[in-house]
Amino acid sequence: MKRVDDFRLRFGKHELVPIMIGGMGVDISTADLALEAARLGGVGHISDAMINTVSDRRYETKHVKEKLALYKYNVNNEDKSPVKFDLGRLAEATRLHVEATMARKQGSGMVFINCMEKLTMNAPRETLKVRMSAALDAGIDGITLAAGLHLGSFGLIEDHPRFRDAKLGIIVSSVRALQLFLKKSARTNRMPDYIVVEGPLAGGHLGFGMDWAQYDLATIVAEVMQYLRDEHLDIPVIPAGGIFTGTDATQFLEAGAAAVQVATRFTVAEECGLPDAAKQEYFKATEDDIEVNQISPTGYPMRMIKSSPGIGDGIRPNCEAYGYLLDATGKCSYITAYNREVAAHPEARKVKVWDKTCLCTHMRNFEIWTCGQLTWRLKDTTRKLDDGSYQMLSAEHIFKDYQFSTDQQVALPEPAAG
Ligand SMILES: Cc1cc2nc3c(=O)[nH]c(=O)nc-3n(C[C@H](O)[C@H](O)[C@H](O)COP(=O)(O)O)c2cc1C
Repeated sequence: MKRVDDFRLRFGKHELVPIMIGGMGVDISTADLALEAARLGGVGHISDAMINTVSDRRYETKHVKEKLALYKYNVNNEDKSPVKFDLGRLAEATRLHVEATMARKQGSGMVFINCMEKLTMNAPRETLKVRMSAALDAGIDGITLAAGLHLGSFGLIEDHPRFRDAKLGIIVSSVRALQLFLKKSARTNRMPDYIVVEGPLAGGHLGFGMDWAQYDLATIVAEVMQYLRDEHLDIPVIPAGGIFTGTDATQFLEAGAAAVQVATRFTVAEECGLPDAAKQEYFKATEDDIEVNQISPTGYPMRMIKSSPGIGDGIRPNCEAYGYLLDATGKCSYITAYNREVAAHPEARKVKVWDKTCLCTHMRNFEIWTCGQLTWRLKDTTRKLDDGSYQMLSAEHIFKDYQFSTDQQVALPEPAAG
């Protein structure tokens, strides 16, 4: 009976364990988590979501405070178009995070960075170019283009000296999205080094509409692989979304996938950036506690635990401090929803906003608990402790469970000391 370890992900001569831990913003897929994947011979991701905030937290910069001070005059203004990111600071924050991560890297694996196009930052092209270039400057092994079609993204870095040596990949949820990306990127004479095919059971934002349940990962993966064969393109395909056991992963590898991308199982790892109390919520969640909703201002459906404290919260938009979702004209649909509620309830000290959420604020504070559909199975991957809580797992334990398990089994951790 085959297992994941019988396969290898090949990038040229470089052979890896075919397990990729997906990017999870905001700093949920921490450097520690990504570095464990690399140490164990696979691929880990850090994320550049809200990188200035991450830099302040981890590297003692003051980007957020200083941006807020600069734009404080605008806090009560509906028009956020003047609130721009300083590109030099953005580059510095990205470099700090990538350099600090890469300096600690051990083992034969790789560390990539997840770059979401939907973080439009009130200047989509300029900021994305700076983010990707700074990550390449700082020595990242690869960039995974996420949350968007990225039709112009290769073009933004084609003059970078590392454009042809760093690994560059794209996440798609349909053949159509892949076709568009390849067509628009053809001019740069560079193919992606890998294609992550993300199905409807994934965590984070979905590349589907609210009819997500009608799609199926295996079918989309087969369509993508057929398309690549028809076009005589030899690009590793990496399925993602709902691959919960080593056996699930092995099935995709036997069907021709080059690796798998997984995330949900690692949300309860010690190295994961979620606070411990949130990890317990992930463990506790039942299937009924998980929903796909449309409250993300990005316009993409997002999956989350229904009891996420950020849902319904009517906090004043924090764009002067954050502002990662402001579009090219300085707009965010949460601002519109918030102002509508304030106008409708002039007496209220605090309003409720149900149709949109201030995703920057709440992801920063770990108050939107985004998760994969199979989060409800996490409780079966560990031990319940005497106090009713669940035992946390090491990333190594989870990684090796994917790598070596067979027969739909999930290895439980050694009982915690004491
Ligand atoms: C908590 C969490 C946060 C995520 N954040 C992101 C993100 O910032 N960018 C992204 O491209 N994908 C994100 N994802 C998707 C994962 O990278 C991955 O592709 C997917 O969740 C794999 O499916 P699985 O969770 O069922 O294993 C996130 C997933 C989770 C669980």
